[in-house]
Amino acid sequence: MSIKKQESYEETLEKQEAKQSKEATSEEFRQFDDVAEAAKEQELRDEKAKADLALPPDPDALLEVRHLKKYFPLKKSMSGKVLVSLRAVDDVSFKLKAGETIGIVGESGCGKTTLGRTILKLHQPTDGQVFFNGEDIAKFKPAQMRPLRTQMQIIFQDPYSSLPPRSTVGGILSEPVKVHKIVPKNEIKDYVLQIMEMCGLRDYYYERYPHEFSGGQRQRICIARALSVKPKLVICDEPVSALDVSIQAQIINLLRQLQSEHGFTYLFISHDLSVVKHISDRIGVMYLGSMVEFGDKKSIFENPLHPYTQALFSAVPNPNPDVKMNRIVLKGDIPSPANPPKGCKFHTRCPKAMEICSHIAPVYKEYEPGHFTACHCYPQED
Ligand SMILES: Nc1ncnc2c1ncn2[C@@H]1O[C@H](COP(=O)(O)OP(=O)(O)OP(=O)(O)O)[C@@H](O)[C@H]1O
Ligand code: SF4
Ligand SMILES: [Mg+2]
Repeated sequence: MSIKKQESYEETLEKQEAKQSKEATSEEFRQFDDVAEAAKEQELRDEKAKADLALPPDPDALLEVRHLKKYFPLKKSMSGKVLVSLRAVDDVSFKLKAGETIGIVGESGCGKTTLGRTILKLHQPTDGQVFFNGEDIAKFKPAQMRPLRTQMQIIFQDPYSSLPPRSTVGGILSEPVKVHKIVPKNEIKDYVLQIMEMCGLRDYYYERYPHEFSGGQRQRICIARALSVKPKLVICDEPVSALDVSIQAQIINLLRQLQSEHGFTYLFISHDLSVVKHISDRIGVMYLGSMVEFGDKKSIFENPLHPYTQALFSAVPNPNPDVKMNRIVLKGDIPSPANPPKGCKFHTRCPKAMEICSHIAPVYKEYEPGHFTACHCYPQED
C-alpha cells in the first residue's frame, strides 16, 4: 500500500506563493495590448540597431556580423510587395577573430546554412551589416565581391554532390588556382600536389576521378579545393555529418591541424554538439533564425544560460560515468519561421516559460564578459 507523503508547512507556503504570483502575473497581462507592445518593442530595437550600425567596425575582428537578416519572400501582392516572408535569419550579430573557430549549433531549420550563405553573399542579405576585413560587404555588388571570393570559402556537407564527376582530382584542384592566379601557370601542378599532401591525399590521386574515392577522401578533396585559394575565412557547413564517426574524427583533426599551421579562421556549422565542442573556441546557439546564446565554449558547456541551450546540451553524453545525465526533453514541434511565436520565440516549448514570455521578446544582452543571451530569466534593464 502506498503512503502519500505529507506536505510540509514550507511546501504548502511555497505552493501558495507560486499560485498568488501566477494570479498576479495573469492580472498584470490581462489588459496587455500585444500589438501595441510589439510595435513599441520593435521601435526600441530599431533605434538600438541604428546606433549599432553607425559604429565603426571592430579592428580585431576578421568578420563582424551586425543585425543580419535574411527573409525569404513567400507571398507577394500583384504589385510585387512582399506579404509573407520566412525569417530564416532574424537579427543575428557576432564577431569572429582571425585564427579562431566559432561553432554555430541549433536544430534543423533554425537558419545555420542560411546564415553561412548570407555571410558569403550567396544569398543577398535583407538587412544588416557584414564586415569582412573592416569592409561592409553586405551591399557589395557581384563585381565588388569577385576579388573577395578567394578569401571566403565554403565546405559543404555532401562531398558526393559537391565535386564535378567528370574532372580528375588534379583538374578540380587546379581550376580555382588557375582562375584566381594563385601561382604562376608553370607552378600550378606542384602547388596542387603540395595542397593534396597537406590534406592527406596521395600524389597518384591527381589523375583519378571523384567516384573512385570514399566519402572521407572526397571531403579531403573538398577541403583541399577550398584551401587551395589561400582563404582567410572558411565556412564549414556540416562538413562531417555525412561521414562515419571514425572518418569524422580524421577530418576534424585535419581542419584543426591546418588551422594551427596556416591560421585559417572557421565558422563551423553543425548540429552535432560533440563535434562542435571539439573544434570551437566560441559557440553561437540559434533558434528559429535568432541567436539565443553566444559565448566561449567553456561558458556555453558549463554554464548555459538560455533554457534552449540547457536542453540542447543536456543531451550531450558525459564521458565521466559518475556524472548523472539529466536530460531535458523539449516538447512540441519547432514553430514555422514564417509565423514565429510572439514574444520569446521559444516560449511554446520552454520548460521555464512565464506569462511575460508570450508577450514580450527578451533583450539579447551580455551577462558575463563575452557571454550573451536573450531570456526573461535574467535582468532586462541596463
Ligand atoms: N532558398 C530558400 N527559399 C525559401 N526558404 C528557404 C530557403 N533556404 C532556406 N529556407 C528556409 O529557411 C529556414 C532555415 O533553413 P536552413 O537551411 O538555413 O536551416 P539549417 O539550420 O541549416 O537546417 P539543417 O540543420 O537541416 O541544415 C528553413 O525554414 C528553410 O526552409
Ligand atoms: S524568455 Fe521565457 S520562454 Fe524565452 S527562454 Fe527565457 S524563460 Fe523561456
Ligand atoms: Mg543546414
